[in-house]
Amino acid sequence: IPVDSFDLVIFGGTGDLARRKILPGLFRRFRSGQMPAEARIIGAARSDMDDAGYRQMIREAIAEFGSEEKNDAGGIDAFLGRLHYVAIDATGDGGWSQLRDLMRDGVIRAFYFSVAPSLFGALAERLHQHGIADASSRIVVEKPFGRDLASAKALNATLAEHFDEGQIYRIDHYLGKETVQNLMAVRFGNVLFEPLWNSHYIDHIQITVAETVGVTGRGSYYDKSGAMRDMVQNHLMQLLCLIAMEPPSTYDADTVRDEKLKVIRALQPVEPHQIVRGQYEASQDGPSYRDDAENPRSFTESFLALKCHIANWRWAKVPFYIRTGKRMKARSSEIAVVFKDLGHTIFEGDTARHRNILSIRLQPNEGMDLQVTIKEPGPGGMRLVDVPLDMTFADALGPDREDAPDAYERLIMDVIRGNQTLFMRGDEVEAAWAWTDPIIEGWEARNDVPKLYDAGTAGPEDAMMLMHRDGRRWREIK
Ligand code: BG6
Repeated sequence: IPVDSFDLVIFGGTGDLARRKILPGLFRRFRSGQMPAEARIIGAARSDMDDAGYRQMIREAIAEFGSEEKNDAGGIDAFLGRLHYVAIDATGDGGWSQLRDLMRDGVIRAFYFSVAPSLFGALAERLHQHGIADASSRIVVEKPFGRDLASAKALNATLAEHFDEGQIYRIDHYLGKETVQNLMAVRFGNVLFEPLWNSHYIDHIQITVAETVGVTGRGSYYDKSGAMRDMVQNHLMQLLCLIAMEPPSTYDADTVRDEKLKVIRALQPVEPHQIVRGQYEASQDGPSYRDDAENPRSFTESFLALKCHIANWRWAKVPFYIRTGKRMKARSSEIAVVFKDLGHTIFEGDTARHRNILSIRLQPNEGMDLQVTIKEPGPGGMRLVDVPLDMTFADALGPDREDAPDAYERLIMDVIRGNQTLFMRGDEVEAAWAWTDPIIEGWEARNDVPKLYDAGTAGPEDAMMLMHRDGRRWREIK
């Protein structure tokens, strides 16, 4: 179903994100018919360029970063015809009147701020000053949304001077991932899980986002952020919220976000012994973090594992273990809900520990499996064995879901539809920083030195100990 017609302005339209994700994604939506044929995309950036130059740049970007659709030459030409370019001076006057003249009336106006947050204020102000944005316009902002509570508050205040909260779309691309939304479908669309979704039946939760990539090429950003700011404060926190939140009464933006906010606010402070920071060392798999980041004295963490608690009735005493890292042994993201042991067994001689585990694989190989205990087939009597009830979505739903939008495509279409459910609200972002700030400040005060781990492994030994101490263990990263 096509969305309403729009003019989408991408500030930072020549940047990495625009070329890698936003434009190839929009091309896919164009081909699928979801982007209306007369909708337009206007790249805006500092460089001097005309429409033809911009179209050529995006043609090359689609060839480099697009998937199979890049072979659709006719489609590409039609799509490129929807593109325009304006050279703009974000902090001065250059280009703004051209941009205003280009915008059509009667269509949705959306402005994607794919630029440094220090420019958000200037852009918002000029959009208003030049009469380009109005009360029905939308703005899209990218992470990092601040680097602590104070800077996030300042950004929220700056945007609020010109836009209502209902016009601000803060992207966390994890919320656009198919399986992440599926979490809500699984929890709230089945009778099986929700009655067991609490501290009476759940022993603990594990969330892992492991990556094999290092920080090559983006060291100057990453070295000032580290895993906490880059991944935990946003992506992993969002996953945790979706797992832990109370059932919202309806699936609408503010109801869902109210419930997520309550989770973040109920997160307990984390003690230093409940956290392990790591940094990868060189191995046969590749160079060290310090080489990748080009900072020989860096103490930034490229890995983080922590244990936290949510202080509410549902989750009393249920630990949430979360970990994420670069240059780990496999690219694998998973949420595992580990249920409690049976209190009693009727099968004599069966001393093994049987547990139901629901695991939700975000990537790759999206799907779910539920570990269940059954009788081992054969004549050996009532011997029990744990097996996975495996549901790989590609098998269950058919591999032919080529047209399914990726996270960015879906989220941009949601902006045009005016649906904020999968975007972070200002108070959520602030609450997340309020939780991470004291942890980061603690490291800084103690001059905390991350534990080293070999590139290509599951992280530092201490991360294993975080679980072992509690008589638990991490699920294998594979
Ligand atoms: C980004 C982080 O937000 O998410 C990157 O800045 C990280 O460091 C990326 O690699 C992971 O996203 P995905 O979709 O590949 O899991």
